Amino acid sequence: MSELNPSGRKGRFISVEGVDGAGKSTQLAWLADWLTTQGIHFISTREPGGTPLGEKLRALLLSEPMHLETEALLMFAGRREHLAQVIEPALQRGDWVLCDRFTDATFAYQGGGRGLPLEKFAALEQWVQGRDEGVLQPDLTLLFDVPPEVSAARMANGRVLDRFEQEAADFHTRVRNAYLQRAAADPARIKVIDANRTVEAIQHELAAQLPQWLGSVTQINRASR
Ligand code: TYD
Repeated sequence: MSELNPSGRKGRFISVEGVDGAGKSTQLAWLADWLTTQGIHFISTREPGGTPLGEKLRALLLSEPMHLETEALLMFAGRREHLAQVIEPALQRGDWVLCDRFTDATFAYQGGGRGLPLEKFAALEQWVQGRDEGVLQPDLTLLFDVPPEVSAARMANGRVLDRFEQEAADFHTRVRNAYLQRAAADPARIKVIDANRTVEAIQHELAAQLPQWLGSVTQINRASR
């Protein structure tokens, strides 16, 4: 578990994604328990957020109207800080990182949802995540996928909705499609989980697949880096 991979980092990086209302929070709590059961030392963090500065940016991003490009740039600015202060030090120490959303969310929300050109994000991704050994990406990304009518029903549970959750149904459909496209382009890293099932059924699949996914991801990274 603690051997070095070719990027020089000892820990592994898992991100969790999905449209609002996909049930990500429940599964994140389960994943944290699973990692603990495996005896893996890990940190839990989130985007936007994860650092004192990032949490301030998060508060603005979730509430304050702003230019669409400002929104995208703030997501990447917060990410730069998060990588420097939290994610990379953890991986270097040998801790694993469990991250609630990462760059795939920018491609999905600001790209698919807002309609900003994906090439701009590829350039920002290269800038913010580029390292000598390549672009720093999660080793494994779990994408919890539900159809728009299911996520809409799960969101409509009476709580106050943030700026993204308040968007119209077609926004969430575009976000979902952009996530699925990104997963199709990188199936070794991004695993699509059908989240339109009972919590138990999803967790059963995760428990069965995670060892293999984490193993194969490591081998793939070894081969390609
Ligand atoms: P979310 O992670 O769903 O938190 P909570 O479960 O507390 O609602 O909320 C973060 C929101 O930020 C979510 O609607 C997606 C959005 N987001 C982006 O638009 N782009 C990004 O790059 C990231 C990381 C998040």
